[in-house]
Amino acid sequence: MIIHDYHNAAAILNQGQLVAIPTETVYGLAANGFDGNAIAQIYEVKNRPQFNPLILHSNSLERFKSWGIHLPDEALKLAQAFSPGPITFVVPKSDTIPDIVTAGHSSVAIRIPNHPTTLKLLAMLNFPLAAPSANLSGTVSPTTAQHVNNQLGELIGAVLEGGECEIGLESTIISFVNEQPQLLRLGGLSIEAIEEVLGMALDKSKLINNDNPEAPGMLSKHYAPNTPLRIGKPEDFIEFCDYTQMAYIGFNNLNPNLKEEHQLILSEQGNLEEAAQKLFAAIRQADALNLKLIVADYFPDEHLGRAINDRLARAAKN
Ligand code: TXA
Ligand code: MG
Repeated sequence: MIIHDYHNAAAILNQGQLVAIPTETVYGLAANGFDGNAIAQIYEVKNRPQFNPLILHSNSLERFKSWGIHLPDEALKLAQAFSPGPITFVVPKSDTIPDIVTAGHSSVAIRIPNHPTTLKLLAMLNFPLAAPSANLSGTVSPTTAQHVNNQLGELIGAVLEGGECEIGLESTIISFVNEQPQLLRLGGLSIEAIEEVLGMALDKSKLINNDNPEAPGMLSKHYAPNTPLRIGKPEDFIEFCDYTQMAYIGFNNLNPNLKEEHQLILSEQGNLEEAAQKLFAAIRQADALNLKLIVADYFPDEHLGRAINDRLARAAKN
């Protein structure tokens, strides 16, 4: 059920049920972050592996502080520049946080999402919200309330309507558990922007081998549509698939060999932010065409293009 009033969302969450909430990145599947039973439902509904920890959301750093969670100086610098926004901080856990949130890890991931309705909701709750993306484990993250309602509507308390997500990619995750800040997941905030504010390079070594991930959710197979997806140009795949049976997710230009209605062009202007915002919905639409193959462009490997390439590479692993 889609609801429009965040006061109702608060009432449902206070009863220990799940509510899908809008954020600027993707919709989250939220539960009271202090209620182990509510959090257990998140794992069950998503069919999420128990070893994959959750992000805690609230509306200010002061509130996290009141729950015993403190950011080191480097993280504070980034929070000042970018929070609320598409960045998640992994920091030492406090005893107030149930182990089920962190899947037993000694660190916890926290984020202040930049969505006006959800910020008001978070401000009226006495607890943080534990929330992974509001999709079944292994499938594409939702960027509209309708996406969530189609997949999970029957299984959860409600979906809070908040419009289309403005960023469209999950948050960038940085760990502050070691000396040098470590990038765990590419996301909606570019590493260029982060490194500029930090005045130093991030440690990126944990991104390379994503089969043995530091962010345990970064399993290499993820975001998988039903239709096989491959990276490149339609011409690269003509030996395997007729043009009439291909869908194409392109950056800025239509492909002359394919039917126009089989093509999803993410930004005619060639703007990476716009492309990121439309990516997940385009993967869903391409999948719904029910063709034999989805071909997706390789995007420029800079700014949000890196995160787009990361998500497409995962979608291609099936
Ligand atoms: O933008 C986002 O981050 C969205 C919205 C809803 O906030 N949430 C999201 O959650 O993408 P999820 O669960 O789909 O991805 C969270 C990632 C997982 O890869 C998880 O392994 C990692 O964060 N993570 C959570 N806690 C962690 C921790 N203590 N240490 C390392 N990684 C952690
Ligand atoms: Mg997810």
